Amino acid sequence: MKLHIIHGPNLNLLGTRETAVYGAETLKEIDGKCAALASELGVEIEISQSNSEGEIIDIIHAAKHNADGILINPGAYTHYSYAIRDALAAVKLPAVEVHLSNIQAREDFRHESVIAPVAAGQIAGFGANSYLLGLRALAELVRNG
Ligand code: DQA
Repeated sequence: MKLHIIHGPNLNLLGTRETAVYGAETLKEIDGKCAALASELGVEIEISQSNSEGEIIDIIHAAKHNADGILINPGAYTHYSYAIRDALAAVKLPAVEVHLSNIQAREDFRHESVIAPVAAGQIAGFGANSYLLGLRALAELVRNG
């Protein structure tokens, strides 16, 4: 089983970006934790980060041919990218949406996710652990349907 982890815009700045909201861990550290969990779960992972909507869409399209599921933190695109939502709907791969912060407890514009309706589920508010919980959920979903 191969799962593709996609980090959206500004997540490359983790570790220095609004640490009171997103924590002090870098993206590299989060990726390392995901890799360790993946080997524990016996799944292969590929990890991408992009600040560009079109590139994220291309990554989702490519995943159709080389992955069994998608774990995605779409960053701010969560709240308004119908194009990323449509890409996920088009490829029909099982997808789990994750967020470091609890988007429901933040500004009003963050309360809506246009991605959530095409994801199997959403995990938010647990910092880096959101990715690990999401990875476990996605692996189980792909394994058991
Ligand atoms: C985020 C939440 C988004 O609202 C924000 O734009 C991000 C990060 C999170 O992981 O908490 O860039 O997706």
